[in-house]
Amino acid sequence: MKSLKHLPVIIIMMLVSLACQMSDSSDKISGVEERVEQLLGEMTLDEKIGQMCQVSGGQGNEESIRQGMIGSILNEVDPENINRLQKIAVEESRLGIPIIVARDVIHGFKTVFPIPLGQAATWNPELVQKGSRIAASEAASTGVRWTFAPMIDISRDARWGRIAESLGEDPYLTSVLGAAMVTGFQGDSLNGETSIAACAKHFAGYGAAEGGRDYNTTSIPPRELRDIYLPPFKAAVDAGVRTFMSGFNEVDGVPATANKYLLTDVLRNEWQFDGFVVSDWASTWEMINHGFAADEKEAAHRAIKVGVDMEMATTTYRDNIAALLKEGALNIEDINQAVRNILRVKFELGLFDNPYIAEEKQNQFARPEYLEAANLAATQSMVLLKNEQKTLPINSSSKIALIGPMADQPYEQLGTWIFDGDTTLTVTPLQAFNKTFGQENVLFAEGMPISRTRHQKGFRKAIEQAKNSDVIVFCGGEESILSGEAHSRANIDLPGVQNELIKELKKTGKPLVLVVMAGRPLTIGEISEHADAVVYAWHPGTMGGAALADIVSGKANPSGKLPVTFPKVVGQIPIYYNHKNTGRPANPDSWTQMYDIPVKAPQTSLGNESHYIDAGFIPLYPFGYGLSYTSFEYSDLSLDKEVYARDETIEVRFTLSNTGEFAGEEVAQVYVRDLVGNVTRPVKELKAFERIDLQKGESKTVTLTIPVQELAFTNIDMKQVVEPGEFQLWVGGDSNAHLTTGFVVR
Ligand code: GLC
Repeated sequence: MKSLKHLPVIIIMMLVSLACQMSDSSDKISGVEERVEQLLGEMTLDEKIGQMCQVSGGQGNEESIRQGMIGSILNEVDPENINRLQKIAVEESRLGIPIIVARDVIHGFKTVFPIPLGQAATWNPELVQKGSRIAASEAASTGVRWTFAPMIDISRDARWGRIAESLGEDPYLTSVLGAAMVTGFQGDSLNGETSIAACAKHFAGYGAAEGGRDYNTTSIPPRELRDIYLPPFKAAVDAGVRTFMSGFNEVDGVPATANKYLLTDVLRNEWQFDGFVVSDWASTWEMINHGFAADEKEAAHRAIKVGVDMEMATTTYRDNIAALLKEGALNIEDINQAVRNILRVKFELGLFDNPYIAEEKQNQFARPEYLEAANLAATQSMVLLKNEQKTLPINSSSKIALIGPMADQPYEQLGTWIFDGDTTLTVTPLQAFNKTFGQENVLFAEGMPISRTRHQKGFRKAIEQAKNSDVIVFCGGEESILSGEAHSRANIDLPGVQNELIKELKKTGKPLVLVVMAGRPLTIGEISEHADAVVYAWHPGTMGGAALADIVSGKANPSGKLPVTFPKVVGQIPIYYNHKNTGRPANPDSWTQMYDIPVKAPQTSLGNESHYIDAGFIPLYPFGYGLSYTSFEYSDLSLDKEVYARDETIEVRFTLSNTGEFAGEEVAQVYVRDLVGNVTRPVKELKAFERIDLQKGESKTVTLTIPVQELAFTNIDMKQVVEPGEFQLWVGGDSNAHLTTGFVVR
């Protein structure tokens, strides 16, 4: 029970709470604001500072919680321990302000979905939202009420380990899927018992790290920042995201965590965001490393002044705010605003009204429908990149040599950021193939214990199994740890001796299916030539093996499409589809392969265009690419008009036909090019897409719409405008779509 001396405060808050509960939902928000102001007026400076501090783990922080010196904890996931810590905050601190418990619930909690890059390959917002809803339900059942997701950093560099955690290279696809994750995590109402606050991260431009080296410098031109890196964050705000996380990186010399343009001018003033901002781990303190703050006090001052409300992990706020106020470097309103933003979200989450996890609601994990959804997500995430002589699907009576370091790795196939993944739930390819094809038909040999194995001790057994089979399925790729935070790679080939093993296996003359489980695009161009079929499975999560068996057996028809461009060689990076044309665009007619150049060819004899004389200028696989067991045909493209006003909507109509032997789903994509602008414009931009299900032989007339306002870009005056002029439009199954037409915006 609370001590009597606080009776007035608790009575007032109970009355305010009662008034709010009696009001209808529309007043709820006003009720929140009143409750925030009421509470703020009761708080001491120390208690206000406490709300701005987040620590990792509750152990050893009990007294600080009791003193009201901690507002949030991350990395606690035991419901009893969370209830214990919450009880201290609510019943033993002076004002009873609950803590908010956070966790990186990035692509699942116990039931692990494909890594976000894999989920992006589904191009299925509903499925992505469902995955986040399930992750929220599992996490919330432990007392976690805040996740540090979605990560919506645009990623054009496969060397960067965190591309695994992203939704790929395209602003539109990332915006649509990032918004789906926000609504999935937060549910219909933030105070729902399975709702958790989402966090748009890492604001902003983190994925543009120089050389793909994590945490490194980003030098993003202002228009590119506006038109490529910021749109997904704006979409998250529009979807109602309640928190943001500032990034580690500097943006053109200014650390994101002290970036007034991003955090104040754009996020608060332009977008009117009223949730709260948390710094990424120690990114406040790291301003010292950046050489942007001389000491912790200056770091705290810079972060608070631009609007970082809560500090994660380091204690520059705790240790310096009082002094900064005393010196007049900060004023109390700077602090009050940060605390308001934090309290607002805590009230919206219902933490004041329902701070505890009831025992019967705890640890609700891995329901059959969760595993089913994870299976579907993994199935739709897998991308068929090659399938010669119809190697796939494999006949159910075939003898399959299942080989490779990722064929039976319950942990590795879950991918990065799976702190809470339950590996006992994992269905590996070996388990699923035994079930699907019959154990007697599956000849297993790992060939290599892990993806990085550099000896060939397992080759003999693997080759023996291959010789006794009808078809080889090589399941390789990257262990989980080879992508994700701080795990950038300069060479993105298959690690270890996988290429050598694949070549040895192919010497048996059997058809070979290459399955890659990885956290990034890998440079598999050369090794793919030794495979008859290639399936890119990303890190597919808990049900990855079952999904792969469904794909390989033909029970499921692959429908995934690449959310990121695949380079032929790492030297082509950065390589992405929505590039500018340049003054000298490369073209196949004038490009000459280095080894075809005549000896002593004169200086100007080669095509003087933008390309590599060795690796050329086209990727291994383009953005949006993915094959099916069937084939699709696009025809009869038309628009509802030829000329559009800027406030109108373009209706794109076409016929999509299934011209092959299987039922299947196609992700139809619509790209647009603004032919001339007062700044240069990309050669293509994705502006609409839809998954369409077609039976064998079936045709559908498809209509997709594009508001003309979606064609806006940041012009020479740094204004978001739709310029009048001519546009070209394509529809197709990837960014090389060629069915085209044109229109005019007047
Ligand atoms: C990490 C990551 C961030 C994560 C946070 C908490 O360093 O950059 O994405 O949410 O710390 O784990």
